[in-house]
Amino acid sequence: MDKKELQSKTALVTGGSRGIGRATCLALAREGARVAVNYASNEKAAREVVAEIERLGSEAMMVGADVSDPESVTKMVTEVESGLGPVDLLVTSAGIAKAAHHSEMTFDSWRHMLSVNVDGTYLPVMAVKDGMLDRGYGRIVCISSIAGLRPRGRMVTYSTSKAAVIGFARSCAEAFGPAIRVNCVAPGLIETEMGAQLGPEAMQRIADEAPLKRNGQPEEIAQTVLFLLSERSSFTTGQTFVADGGRVTLP
Ligand SMILES: NC(=O)c1ccc[n+]([C@@H]2O[C@H](COP(=O)([O-])OP(=O)(O)OC[C@H]3O[C@@H](n4cnc5c(N)ncnc54)[C@H](OP(=O)(O)O)[C@@H]3O)[C@@H](O)[C@H]2O)c1
Repeated sequence: MDKKELQSKTALVTGGSRGIGRATCLALAREGARVAVNYASNEKAAREVVAEIERLGSEAMMVGADVSDPESVTKMVTEVESGLGPVDLLVTSAGIAKAAHHSEMTFDSWRHMLSVNVDGTYLPVMAVKDGMLDRGYGRIVCISSIAGLRPRGRMVTYSTSKAAVIGFARSCAEAFGPAIRVNCVAPGLIETEMGAQLGPEAMQRIADEAPLKRNGQPEEIAQTVLFLLSERSSFTTGQTFVADGGRVTLP
């Protein structure tokens, strides 16, 4: 990538305090972008990401907001725009996951996960797209999951939410083109706190099944996100880019 490509850009990363979002914030900073690090409750983690970005020589700010709450998201974007300038690049990485047998599913748990994973994608995108359209430039990457592409009997709600993210991004690509490109990344199992919820045995079994014989690192997803934000992917919009060690290729 041209080192200067993201130097004049402002990026907002939801769920930037930990995991894939954190790695994306740092990757953006290495490419010179100013980065707004969103978090829900883990202020300490967000503060550490901001400090690390500043050590890398980029500007950063942290911004607490619940992405499932409309007022909170509007306030977040206003704060970011007055602190770092209009949002050019948006990455929606905030999300939650929980495995549950169908007998344990409740309407409340369904609504909660859809509100964070789906409303939490919709609201930040809607809050930045008009400014991007007015300025004639915007790049958006939504983090989905291979669970959105394959059946997941113990993750019915999560899988539904991640399929919705793919559908949303695909339609936004048509609605907001040509100024804004909108793409998704669908990671396989990544070694973050969310991934670790599965426990070491399940993680090892999944790694052994994958053609690449391992699980992914957050930095590997961040690089895929950077590609989709950059002009190296200039003819790509409405797509879902799978980064999963080859698991979706399996029967
Ligand atoms: N890890 C995997 O194996 C994997 C695989 C496929 C897809 N994904 C997807 O990748 C994304 C990131 O996952 P991860 O593994 O990096 O998760 P993680 O390590 O658990 O981090 C989750 C991040 O989301 C934030 N967050 C959660 N709820 C929020 C809310 N309501 N409002 C604002 N921020 C909120 C958290 O903020 P706090 O720090 O304040 O809690 C944290 O920054 C998710 O969308 C996930 O579904 C992950």
